[in-house]
Amino acid sequence: MTDNANPVRYAAEGKIAVICIDNPPVNACSQPVRAGLMDAMQRFADGPEKVAVIYGAGRTFVAGADIKEFGKPPMDPMLPHLVDTVEQQEKPVVCVLHGTALGGGLELALGAHYRVALRGTRVGLPEVTLGILPGAGGTQRLPRLIGLLPAAEIFTSARQVGAEEALELGIVDALSEEEPRVAGLNFAAEILARGDGPRRIRDLPGPKVDAEAVGDLRAKVARANRGQIAHLSALDVAVKGASLPLDEGLAEERKAFMKLMESPQRRALIHAFFAERKVARLPEIEGVEPRAIAHLGVIGGGTMGGGIAVAGLLNGLSVTLIERDTAAADKARDGIGRTLADSVKRGKLTEAKRAELLEKSLTTGDDYAALSEADVIIEAVFESMEVKREVFGKLDKVAKPGAILATNTSYLDVNEIAAATARPADVLGLHFFSPAHVMRLLEIVVADKTAPEVLATGFALARKLKKVPVRAGVCDGFIGNRMLRVYRLAADHMILAGASPYDIDRALVEFGFAMGPYAVADLAGLDIGYMTRQRLRPTKPAEERWGDWPDRLHEMGRLGRKSGRGYYIYDAENPRGRPDPEVEALIAEERTAKGITPRDFPDDEIVARYMAAMINEGARIVDEGIALRPLDVDVVKLFGYGFPRWRGGPMHHADAQGLDTVLATIHDCAKEDAYFWQPAPLLARLAAEGGSFASLNDD
Ligand code: 3HC
Ligand code: NAI
Repeated sequence: MTDNANPVRYAAEGKIAVICIDNPPVNACSQPVRAGLMDAMQRFADGPEKVAVIYGAGRTFVAGADIKEFGKPPMDPMLPHLVDTVEQQEKPVVCVLHGTALGGGLELALGAHYRVALRGTRVGLPEVTLGILPGAGGTQRLPRLIGLLPAAEIFTSARQVGAEEALELGIVDALSEEEPRVAGLNFAAEILARGDGPRRIRDLPGPKVDAEAVGDLRAKVARANRGQIAHLSALDVAVKGASLPLDEGLAEERKAFMKLMESPQRRALIHAFFAERKVARLPEIEGVEPRAIAHLGVIGGGTMGGGIAVAGLLNGLSVTLIERDTAAADKARDGIGRTLADSVKRGKLTEAKRAELLEKSLTTGDDYAALSEADVIIEAVFESMEVKREVFGKLDKVAKPGAILATNTSYLDVNEIAAATARPADVLGLHFFSPAHVMRLLEIVVADKTAPEVLATGFALARKLKKVPVRAGVCDGFIGNRMLRVYRLAADHMILAGASPYDIDRALVEFGFAMGPYAVADLAGLDIGYMTRQRLRPTKPAEERWGDWPDRLHEMGRLGRKSGRGYYIYDAENPRGRPDPEVEALIAEERTAKGITPRDFPDDEIVARYMAAMINEGARIVDEGIALRPLDVDVVKLFGYGFPRWRGGPMHHADAQGLDTVLATIHDCAKEDAYFWQPAPLLARLAAEGGSFASLNDD
């Protein structure tokens, strides 16, 4: 940065004012940037220069307003005023876009009279992903420039538009191969040569409104963003502005923006934005150099091993996958080939690249010796301590010195697995989620002897695979699955007391989850829960209540989607499942046998109990140090368990509701089952102090 006071540099180069925004890392339009640009505009207006060029230093043009300022008292000059000031200049202003010109960055550029983009630039208005709408003219100027529907499609989807498409749509006037400053100087020289003056979007007529097409888009956006308020608000304000003079449209936009700024959804989404980035920052690996990773070994080529191999291949790693015999290895290779073919179908990969990956980057076989070159070896064999220990026992002989030895276990004790090798310092858990090449979450499980360098390499691998890594300590189920067991049990208890699985799923989908827990169980396979219960049964405390019906469903061969029946029936007419009266009858039978008189559960009670169980276990996990901070718990649930992002994650949701409200639900439920509903000490303490989980997220 130039100096702390002014991150904006002004240089007069002959007739051209060259204005550089230098506010690393992403040139966010913070108050000093806005003030610096206002000064620059004043100097340009007063000075002899004939054209102004605004560009960004470093990797990008302005990536948006400074999100860190949100929720704080607004500071002058405000962004809309700055954009107006740029637009009202009497001499032409050019913006040069590179990197990502997003949100307030694109809005600033729409205030300029001309826009040049470097190849590779992406532009967009992603504000809705933060629970707000473009608040510096984006919903008013972009429709005037390119039409209401194309503009609305961009700001309601938050998609990033590539430079070529931006040129086609008319968002930018020209593309350049030069670096930003030179691109700006060249364009300004052309303007000077032609004698072109300012060209303001505000002078364009309001866009036409095709009511039917807007209605269709509105319905589509509402469907895709169930429960969220920002998307439709942005669309509505754009439609309203179409028939108003620009300044009135801008005033409407500002009003809607300020309203959203105060919404709980905005707070939740901003929390999610920063949590997603902060989660990878661990004091224990700061400055620790990760080991090099180029070659990935995978043991076990079933659901998870195959997915992990695909994730490695798609992100530039060579992969060696070992199965029990050659037939199983061939089957795994076919599976990987099919998954890559899907990527080709979805346009993510070319057929030639797929063939090359399968031929040159993937080795499959049944000989462990082939793992000798692997930098990281991930075991994804059956969930059995015996099998896993046997596999790790073999690795000592084949793995090269310094190779990372990882297990993808869902629940098992990573210390015990590590003890099967002579190099426990190299062992850690890398818990992927299914499908492993799609799901973003990666729990990185640190065992007692895991070396910091090994942990750092786990995080480096996550970055390579474009995952969101969360550090977890060793316990049964780590962060995500340990919590899942508890809130699923809370749901089962509601079923025993009278709710149906379908009531519970509906209430939670209404809350914002993509699917309810019983639909998810069907998708994962009812055998997974069955095996977990079998494993935990010997240590199950006598006071803990379990329903019998989940085991009975399994014994009846109902494995969920894969067998066509689980909690739901899956058939040609109902590929996504329909309720099964036989399941309800089975549950009713159990209630009768246990002497339970069923009662109704309103949706809000279902949600309150389910969330209280989730939050309570999350609090224990933080207190025990299994998760580093509450935000780590939030990120696990957001990225691995379909928790609605616009509610911020369970711990943020707890703060938003008030911890005493959560605690009151727990006390209330404890009247029925004091064993299950014991308040977590951390939750009780914070509630008594009037504290929040957020306070534990601070550095
Ligand atoms: N404000 C403040 N900080 C920001 C920021 C912003 N708009 N965008 C990114 N940052 C910070 C990140 O928090 C991160 O900080 P850290 O290093 O301390 O963790 C750092 O910049 C780098 O960000 P990423 O790790 O995300 O870097 P990438 O290279 O992966 O991605 C990016 C860059 C595509 C620009 C991505 O950061 C991004 O999508 N940013 C948000 C863009 C956005 O939403 N803009 C709209 C803002 S709202 C707005 O403009 C309102 C207006 O309409 C009035
Ligand atoms: P799977 O049954 O689909 O695949 C396991 C594979 O391991 C089989 O193909 C089997 O032939 C192979 N295998 C068994 N012993 C072997 C050995 N000694 N050497 C080489 N290969 C061997 O199981 P899945 O679902 O892929 O699970 C694997 C691991 O991942 C388990 O620990 C599981 O708990 C965990 N996991 C599973 C998730 C899921 O959703 N399925 C999610 C996250 C983790």
